[in-house]
Amino acid sequence: MKLIRTESYEEMSRVAANILAAQITLKPNSVLGLATGSSPVGMYKELIKKYEAGDIDFSDISTVNLDEYKGLTRDNDQSYYYFMNDNLFDHVNIDKARTNVPNGMAEDPEAECVRYESLIKELGGVDLQLLGIGRNGHIGFNEPSDSFDKATHLSDLEESTIEANKRFFASIDDVPRQAFSMGIGTIMSAKKIVVVASGADKADAVKKAFTGPVTPQVPGSILQFHPDVTVICDAEAYSKIEE
Ligand code: GLP
Repeated sequence: MKLIRTESYEEMSRVAANILAAQITLKPNSVLGLATGSSPVGMYKELIKKYEAGDIDFSDISTVNLDEYKGLTRDNDQSYYYFMNDNLFDHVNIDKARTNVPNGMAEDPEAECVRYESLIKELGGVDLQLLGIGRNGHIGFNEPSDSFDKATHLSDLEESTIEANKRFFASIDDVPRQAFSMGIGTIMSAKKIVVVASGADKADAVKKAFTGPVTPQVPGSILQFHPDVTVICDAEAYSKIEE
């Protein structure tokens, strides 16, 4: 595992965008596993700039997103489907038919999980998976638990996650209580993983997940067992590691 400390959110975003751009350049038909949340927004902006400068081409890229809230329609501006279009897909030359997000409105959630997991396999697996990390150490919506979830599943969100994510919604009651998420097994199958973490409220999670014991109580800690992980932190997120 490579831990990189950057000075600022902007620098973290540039470093992460450079890694994604290198992946796109070296393998133009890469399958990218993408993430939402505030952490990767700056990185997506940098990728758009690189696309506009003519440095990267998304035309053969496929994407699979990590997770999606259950019960939000695609046109809901808090759905992760909407987020991806808004923050990246609408601004680059990606073929939207090759972009994939779990269907939060699926009538049969179990069938949706099976469909999503097989879709990733049919695509040949994820070449590079981008991740953020939750304040409680979650990755995707794999919440702290007694065991690691292997495959895509419907997850019950922790109270602390609902609390952390309420800032995006009109009120806490509007935050969905469940979400579809790739499993830990799905994430660990990616060939390469890049994590972005920013801000003082992530410092504990970063320290526990990347320097503490590997445990399902800190889901991100499993990444210590992956052979190719790069964690890019801003100074605040990295601050507890220096203690
Ligand atoms: C969300 C998402 C995660 C994300 C994390 C951190 O709940 N499910 O994929 O990495 O929480 O979000 P943020 O980057 O906004 O802090």
